[in-house]
Amino acid sequence: MAWLPDRKAERKTSEAFQQRPISREEREKILHDIKRRLHRTLVERLDLAQLEQMEETLVAAEIRRALTQLLADDPFPLNAEERARIAEELEFEILGLGPLEPLVRDNTISDILVNRYDEVYIERFGMLHLTDVRFRDNAHLMKIIHKIVSNIGRRIDESSPMVDARLPDGSRVNAIIPPLALDGPILSIRRFMVMRPTIEEILARGTLIPEMAEVMRAAVKAKLNILISGGTGSGKTTLLNILSTYLDPEERIVTVEDSAELQLQKRNVCRLETRPPNIEGKGEITQRDLVRNALRMRPDRIIVGEVRGPEVMDMFQAMNTGHEGSMTTIHANSPRDALLRLETMVNLAGYQIPQKALRHLISSSLDVIIHLARHSDGVRRVVSISEITGMEGEVISLQDIFVFDRHGVADDGKILGQFVATGVRPRFADRCAIYGVPIPDSYFTPPASGRLRRSRAFPLEARR
Ligand SMILES: Nc1ncnc2c1ncn2[C@@H]1O[C@H](COP(=O)(O)OP(=O)(O)OP(=O)(O)O)[C@@H](O)[C@H]1O
Ligand SMILES: [Mg+2]
Repeated sequence: MAWLPDRKAERKTSEAFQQRPISREEREKILHDIKRRLHRTLVERLDLAQLEQMEETLVAAEIRRALTQLLADDPFPLNAEERARIAEELEFEILGLGPLEPLVRDNTISDILVNRYDEVYIERFGMLHLTDVRFRDNAHLMKIIHKIVSNIGRRIDESSPMVDARLPDGSRVNAIIPPLALDGPILSIRRFMVMRPTIEEILARGTLIPEMAEVMRAAVKAKLNILISGGTGSGKTTLLNILSTYLDPEERIVTVEDSAELQLQKRNVCRLETRPPNIEGKGEITQRDLVRNALRMRPDRIIVGEVRGPEVMDMFQAMNTGHEGSMTTIHANSPRDALLRLETMVNLAGYQIPQKALRHLISSSLDVIIHLARHSDGVRRVVSISEITGMEGEVISLQDIFVFDRHGVADDGKILGQFVATGVRPRFADRCAIYGVPIPDSYFTPPASGRLRRSRAFPLEARR
């Protein structure tokens, strides 16, 4: 089909170009108009339905070809860079997710958060940044949201204005639109398959010191049951992922997650993921169902991405019955808080267990709590590694092995402090030796010069 140029629009843009000088904004606007016009023409020219049947690379090539021709015919003085930019943006618009496409392609970006059509944030290496990515308007954003959800066989409209779904690449998308969202559609994409930092990287970023990493490695090898606690985005899943690299290759691991985030680089791993209820509210498979199923799969260890509910009881049972070395994470503000939350979860699940018996169960199930925090300087730190040593009366006793001893804040906002051993040799050190991963006693000696200020004066138990 011949391309019939839109002469009127061309004239208008051409005139605009002739009025010198043109400001940058104006030129941007003109480019925008050209793009819009080309988009319309392209969509008319290309048979989109037919394109969908074709292989992606062929489609891209076809679009490029048509665009090159259109741009060559275009009478406006576009430079090569502008032509390339328009071509790329149009390709993204037609084939991909429009303005979001470059973000989606960048696998250093972990979260893409669209608050409004002109306000898009990304998270990269754990820090949130505002981008200059913009949609034309709310309608444009809505179009892209429709594209995302219809691709995965869902729909979103006024009658069902919320969608939470998984993309084929493992990312999780959530879209919520008016009337529930007050200022236009909101889209959140959490990309779990993004490259996660390695132990070397988090050591370099000041998350912990090598001695702590060694103790964690020994704890994993010695099959201790480990709970990683911390606030939102404090790096729990990342640390769990790192700890799982210490698993022996021959061990059979079953992972249970709400959204598959773990990237275990080893063989003999069975990955399970929960399923939300369908539109009629049926067919839900919970973490508890999966943990129970996992126990029938002859696992050596069970790894639960994050405990949140009734599955906690099944986990304790697993930990007490030969599935040592299980690991999980929990959302909590301190190690004490983590223990309290475990209790609450069991109670909410409807078990009628006397408090003391329940605490006893918890203390005999868990061995180590590693607590993480994201501090105000943006650094994630392992603020404590504690051992659960049993019960003292009605209370579970927690013994800190390492703590982050925080002194204050520098002028530039950097948190001042150091990681220190508390001077306590953990009971699990013997077990580590038996498992062939002895920990040198020197690791547990506090630094001679570094006075342990707060942590010694107020052990974690008292700090809450
Ligand atoms: N030690 C670290 N240093 C720097 N960045 C980190 C560190 N650990 C994690 N991150 C980054 O922080 C972000 C959140 O990490 P992660 O998903 O592990 O946190 P989380 O505590 O599991 O969060 P959630 O509460 O959502 O489950 C990711 O972008 C990750 O790459
Ligand atoms: Mg997590």
